[in-house]
Amino acid sequence: MASSLRKWLKAIHPEGIPGPCAFVYDALTRSSIFQRHYDLVAQDILNCGSQGRLLDIGTGPAWLLLKLHQRAPQLALTGLDISPAMVRKAKANIAQAHLTGAIELVEAGAKDLPFPDCTFDLVVSTGSIHHWKDPVRSLDECHRVLKAGGTALIYDLVVNLPEAVRSAARREFGRYRMLLLWLHSFEEPFYSQQQMADLAAQSVFGKGDVRFVGVLCCLTLHRSS
Ligand SMILES: C[S@@+](CC[C@H](N)C(=O)[O-])C[C@H]1O[C@@H](n2cnc3c(N)ncnc32)[C@H](O)[C@@H]1O
Repeated sequence: MASSLRKWLKAIHPEGIPGPCAFVYDALTRSSIFQRHYDLVAQDILNCGSQGRLLDIGTGPAWLLLKLHQRAPQLALTGLDISPAMVRKAKANIAQAHLTGAIELVEAGAKDLPFPDCTFDLVVSTGSIHHWKDPVRSLDECHRVLKAGGTALIYDLVVNLPEAVRSAARREFGRYRMLLLWLHSFEEPFYSQQQMADLAAQSVFGKGDVRFVGVLCCLTLHRSS
């Protein structure tokens, strides 16, 4: 019953966040649980590399790009989102930080990235892969636009948080925020850890490793050549 409901939600779930929801999402992501995770993810990305060009797919309000710019201004940052309303929000947030021109924004979808082969050193994405209607082709696109030796880091919530991760997050954020997260993860058709790894196995990458950064599952993919 729960699994058929989830399949149905997946089928009707919009790929890009529509106008009014973009407004709500922008407000929600100003909260401490989100901002803490942008900090954690920014540090995790920079542990992997801090030079060259980085693409953030499904950048939403662009908070992650702003955190990355603060910590590593030498990185050339591009944010991409399929939702025109989200791109407008991202532009407004970047303008408010007086960084217009320092961070590039592009309106496009993950399955047809409008960049030449071998453009980026790093491709990242947070909370977006569960929206992608064609995740394997989109991962193939990540592979195509990465330079040889480049890395893709795809972060998302998953349906089956390991108990150790759940209790650490409960201690840090409290039961109420964790309940919100649980409700959100039922409404949103997230993947499991295993399904994230399976998507990597079906893509040109051939395989990917999964681990947790805060409550986010991170799928790490390497382009060798
Ligand atoms: C839940 S939001 C996450 C936004 C941001 N990365 C964050 O962590 O706050 C998901 C974002 O992915 C975008 N998105 C969904 N499907 C996409 C696709 N196929 N290509 C590019 N962006 C997509 C949505 O419009 C939305 O802005």
